[in-house]
Amino acid sequence: MDAQVVVHADRPGAVIRPEIYGQFAEQLGHGIDQGIWVGEASAIPNIKGYRKDVVDALKAIHVPVIRWPGGCFADEYHWRDGIGPRGQRPVRRNLSWGGEENNAFGTHEFMDFAELIGAKTYIGVNVGGGTAREMSDWLEYLTADGQSSIARERRANGRDKPWKVAYLGIGNEAWGCGGHMRPAYYADLYRQFATFVHPSGDDPSAIVRVASGANADDVAWTEGVMSAAGELIDAYGVHYYTLPTQDWKKKGSATDFGETEWIATLHGALHMDDLLNRHSAIMDKYDPKKRVALVVDEWGNWYDPQPGVASPPLYQQNSLRDALTAAMTLNIFHAHADRVRMANIAQMVNVLQAMILTDQKRMVLTPTYHVFDMYQVFQGATSLPLDVRAPDYVFGNVHVPGVQASAGRDAAGVVHVGLVNPSPDKPVRLHVRLSGAQAKSIKGRVLTAPAITSINTFDHPGVVKPEPLAGMSSSGGEWVLSLPPRSVVVLDMR
Ligand code: AHR
Repeated sequence: MDAQVVVHADRPGAVIRPEIYGQFAEQLGHGIDQGIWVGEASAIPNIKGYRKDVVDALKAIHVPVIRWPGGCFADEYHWRDGIGPRGQRPVRRNLSWGGEENNAFGTHEFMDFAELIGAKTYIGVNVGGGTAREMSDWLEYLTADGQSSIARERRANGRDKPWKVAYLGIGNEAWGCGGHMRPAYYADLYRQFATFVHPSGDDPSAIVRVASGANADDVAWTEGVMSAAGELIDAYGVHYYTLPTQDWKKKGSATDFGETEWIATLHGALHMDDLLNRHSAIMDKYDPKKRVALVVDEWGNWYDPQPGVASPPLYQQNSLRDALTAAMTLNIFHAHADRVRMANIAQMVNVLQAMILTDQKRMVLTPTYHVFDMYQVFQGATSLPLDVRAPDYVFGNVHVPGVQASAGRDAAGVVHVGLVNPSPDKPVRLHVRLSGAQAKSIKGRVLTAPAITSINTFDHPGVVKPEPLAGMSSSGGEWVLSLPPRSVVVLDMR
């Protein structure tokens, strides 16, 4: 099949904030414990307790921001549990996810980890089970210079200079695990907590206060919170997970699926566009100048645990299907760059749609990791609109666009185009043209694999990995190339 893409290089849009490539690391399962943190005494090679292989892999994709400690866990977390000598920290039940939390990874470990990989920090504070006072003390501990008792306590615990907190999440899923609140009640709590956000440092106003936003389609929540607290909100967080079946009781398998589940999952991921349009429209009513960022601080695919295998909570495999939905979602974020200024995929390591899976000493990069790698050229680029003409890919009665795409121009003037061919078995002959500019050369990378269910495993880590895209030719001002079936492609046009 033939398809056309015209990139409007002469109609620049908003900057694609690097933070759209943010990640989420919750105190849960093997996400942090074993995934990121093994402790200095571990036989697994580590840098001050952080897995070296994981640190190196994350540095390579330039993670711009990390959200921590939750998720649901944030509303049960008391920050004082995670400071001071590790051996003396309390062990608590992890009420959200089961098991016990030994608090070895606390404030210092998180902030130093972010510093180590060069990421900004997004701290989620406890609204559901905490107080505004507890939050402001934590913020003082994190950011205060000077000689206050709390700043001195931090120094005594080994950190002289204050850290920078870029984002502060005021509660998480307040409509659910964060307290089962109603929007008006949460909005009042938000107002109260937001009032007591007093970070120290060069520019205290630089901290972005993030309100706990809607569960997926719940636009009534957005209406309720924006109308009652909009003027105190800097960013508003929406959560959306894609389930192949859309049924939380039986979500579907991460690895054992056919074309029905394949297209259902792709279709589900595309729903993000609709969500962003609907939440943005309500935000526009209360914030027409778009001062408030819409952040998607949890997103990704969520599957059932593998039957008969004892895995840590929320551990799942990651296939080529996850790579395609990641690329599609990032394409959607690029198109909404004027309002969407951060997103945090759930989650970083060993949890849900992870970048990385670990097993003792071994580590494997997932197909989703490779998309974040290929797409890092979009971080900080200027979004460019594009027109795509392609017949839909159809299976059963489900339709998805035959080519899904986004474009951006980086600081060096290179135009990048991200493309997804969702068909499991048909290539697309693609004609790409820039309007308002000329591309003299083109390079591309492609991510595909032998099957829609292809995965990377510890024994076979290179089944799904990017390769250079070959066979591009130019004719009459346009480039012609082939998008292989079930693939993600990123083009660099200069
Ligand atoms: O990412 C896993 C969980 O999903 C988070 O803790 C919670 O916020 C959401 O429901």
